[in-house]
Amino acid sequence: MADSFSYDTLFSKNSTDTPTNFVKHAKYDFAVAYPAPETLPMDGLIQALQTAVDSDSGKIAAEMAYYPHQLGARELREYTSSKLTADRGFTVGADEIALTNGSGEAIGLVIQALTDPGDVVLAEEYVYMGTLNQLRRFGADIRGVAIDEGGIIPDALDRQIAALIASGEKPKYLYTIPEHQNPTGSTLSAERRKAILKIAHKHGMPILEDDCYVDLRFEGDTQPAFRALDDSGIVVYVASYSKLLAPGLRLGYFTASPAVMRRALGFKLGSGPNQFAAVAIEGFLRNNLDSHRDNFNPLLQQKRNAMVASLEENFAGSGATWSVPQGGCYVWLMMPESSDISAIRDKVFEQGVGYVAGTNFEADSSGRIGRNCARLCFAFESPQKNTEGIALLGQLFKQHGAM
Ligand SMILES: Cc1ncc(COP(=O)(O)O)c(C=O)c1O
Repeated sequence: MADSFSYDTLFSKNSTDTPTNFVKHAKYDFAVAYPAPETLPMDGLIQALQTAVDSDSGKIAAEMAYYPHQLGARELREYTSSKLTADRGFTVGADEIALTNGSGEAIGLVIQALTDPGDVVLAEEYVYMGTLNQLRRFGADIRGVAIDEGGIIPDALDRQIAALIASGEKPKYLYTIPEHQNPTGSTLSAERRKAILKIAHKHGMPILEDDCYVDLRFEGDTQPAFRALDDSGIVVYVASYSKLLAPGLRLGYFTASPAVMRRALGFKLGSGPNQFAAVAIEGFLRNNLDSHRDNFNPLLQQKRNAMVASLEENFAGSGATWSVPQGGCYVWLMMPESSDISAIRDKVFEQGVGYVAGTNFEADSSGRIGRNCARLCFAFESPQKNTEGIALLGQLFKQHGAM
């Protein structure tokens, strides 16, 4: 066999050595970030695709034969525009929406349009790792904003921005997941959103609103989008079809003021996202959005109930607390501060229960505040497995001296 060719002196300065590990699943997998495969409307999506082809095969073939428009399939953008009006209370035209390869791509494009290395960017003090990774990749200096069970605390945000400005570190923008936050499960009330918008205007600081989980509400009232409360352009709005339907479809979208759209799309390589997936999603959701949510969200509620009931049974009296979200996928578990569940995560995983340790979500990546916390996804396993897995988690925490 020939000697293997060495690239050691050839890699670009910006390249990073990125592992390509495949995800391992624990027996009770609370570490994932998506709903269960059996809730995926496979038949409905395939039928929608078939119906579209049957009704005008020439049109679909012609569309498929070209590279998709940079903004993505027109029909899905039109559908997305009507969905935003109906569900989120603001209206933007189909040409003001860009479909992307998942909302992760949209977030990355906006980050690149707004971030120079060293820029201070604010986010909830625990926040979605995918965005943290992208912010770090583009050199952002991320600072966590104080939160409570209702999400960002507006007064704390205002004080923090004032202090940053006083020290010459004016934040560039705020990234927030206002509805069923990842990882804490909190939702910002309309009052807090209005207060945060006031603060944003006072300091000339845009808000990057990530509405990834908004369709997954099974209790309480959906709160108005930041974008619905403010049409000045200060809000950049990002959302996804991943959690409502399936991450494998890779379809998300964003809308922003024309100047921000143009700058963000300037970083887009290649054409719009997969046309086949766009046809299936548009056809399926146009006829089945309500019935899909009506089937799917009560199941999520049962799963949350099972997990929370098992936490009550197995963690009561331990000093642990946990969030009880009204939607989304995650319960946020907080053990007493002396308990380091980040250090035992791998052992517990091998023994059958997967979770993501709180340290992974720290905006400032200090590794300090999240050691006693974990994100538990209740959406993936069955209610029974949620019950059993949490009981086992309690036993394993005791075994490892964490409870
Ligand atoms: C808050 C949040 N935003 C964005 C994403 C990215 O999702 P996708 O790229 O599949 O749309 C995720 C995925 O877990 C998420 O939790």
